[in-house]
Amino acid sequence: MDFKRSDFPQGFVFGAATAAYQIEGHKFGGAGPTHWDTFAAGPGNVVRGEDGALACDHYHRFAEDLDLLKDAGMDAYRFSTSWARVMPDGRTPNPAGLDFYDRLVDAMLERGLQPFQTLYHWELPSALADQGGWMNRDTCKYFGDFTDVITDRIGDRIHAIATINEPWCISYLSHFLGHHAPGLKDIRAAARAMHHINLAHGEAMTRLRGKGMKNCGIVLNFDHTDPKDDTPEAAQAAATMDAINNRWFIEAVTKGTYPEEALAGLSPHMPAGWQDDMAQISQPIDFLGVNYYTRHKVTRDDSMVWPHVASEEGPGAKTQMGWEIYPDGLQSFLTRLSQDYVGDLPIFVTENGMAWDDHLVNGGVSDPERTQFINDHILATKRAIDAGANVQGFFYWSLLDNYEWAFGYEKRFGIIHVDFETLKRTPKASYHALKSAIAR
Ligand code: NOJ
Repeated sequence: MDFKRSDFPQGFVFGAATAAYQIEGHKFGGAGPTHWDTFAAGPGNVVRGEDGALACDHYHRFAEDLDLLKDAGMDAYRFSTSWARVMPDGRTPNPAGLDFYDRLVDAMLERGLQPFQTLYHWELPSALADQGGWMNRDTCKYFGDFTDVITDRIGDRIHAIATINEPWCISYLSHFLGHHAPGLKDIRAAARAMHHINLAHGEAMTRLRGKGMKNCGIVLNFDHTDPKDDTPEAAQAAATMDAINNRWFIEAVTKGTYPEEALAGLSPHMPAGWQDDMAQISQPIDFLGVNYYTRHKVTRDDSMVWPHVASEEGPGAKTQMGWEIYPDGLQSFLTRLSQDYVGDLPIFVTENGMAWDDHLVNGGVSDPERTQFINDHILATKRAIDAGANVQGFFYWSLLDNYEWAFGYEKRFGIIHVDFETLKRTPKASYHALKSAIAR
């Protein structure tokens, strides 16, 4: 790698990220059914109909996984606490679930790893999905109750806490594009989910502040959007997609407003009185988490429903997901977010990574493409810091190959290979390259 730890400001955090449903094994420890189990069991939703029942069996193997993080010289671990494990029906605490996270956090601290917790990384308890899930405003209150219960148990040992992971995916991707649970293609459902997920963030913030919690924030995903050509139609399409994908959530959280370009299509479908929620949604946060993967090129397409946009990958090299590799997009978002939205507030790159068709050969995995990807995105982060953005950490997605949602176990993002037959972990060459860079 072309960087070393000492190139970064004192205290800069290097870490890796995971999420509960993608690694733990949801059949263990009394976790309740989730809307992802339902979605995976539906025809054509997930490759091979795979779900998170076993995943990486992190539930039983977390000590080994945390040892690997520590051995890599990492400072922090970004993980999520499953609502359905802590409250299997969404409302009633499960002592075994709370005990698990208690052990997990202690195991991080024993290894000197800072716990970066995420409260919601997508496994909505089925009992709440049955009542309309994120279309139902009541879900925000129940999410607040979950926030209270898990924070009362582990909040004394958490370094930083994010309320929601990627609200765009939870709402627009899942309720309008239909790619994730609950798999709807319904603009009214989407508008409600896009507002309620922000309100759930506000509700969780209120509960966390009520307990005096510090280092509270949210994790948003950003997709670099360029016009496909230099026509005014393409420029307008890019502005619309930027408003829906990127501005909707950051503007709500930092300014208490929604962009006009997105409201143009969504406002007839918004829940009544949404304006009254914006103050709670925009209460101060302590940090912003940025998840960044790729860019798209867009143009106007009137044969499509609103937002009348056709989108395609950019021209550069692609990952196993087919996503264009575009590190400059990360630099540009970090700079833009700091200049336009958060100022000096700490920013963490909470996810960045790539899937590749990795193979275990003679006990090792050679993945020079991933090493290059990590190198280029960490250098892009450094350029943003040099230009004035207060970026305080970088988390690679993901520590382990894991359950990649609608793609099942086929797409491998890890710096550690997982054999899904034997569950054996093997650090890839990129793990070793990152380890030596951050040791320098
Ligand atoms: C975003 C999500 O937070 C994570 O769950 C997912 O696996 C990665 N990106 C890769 O798609």
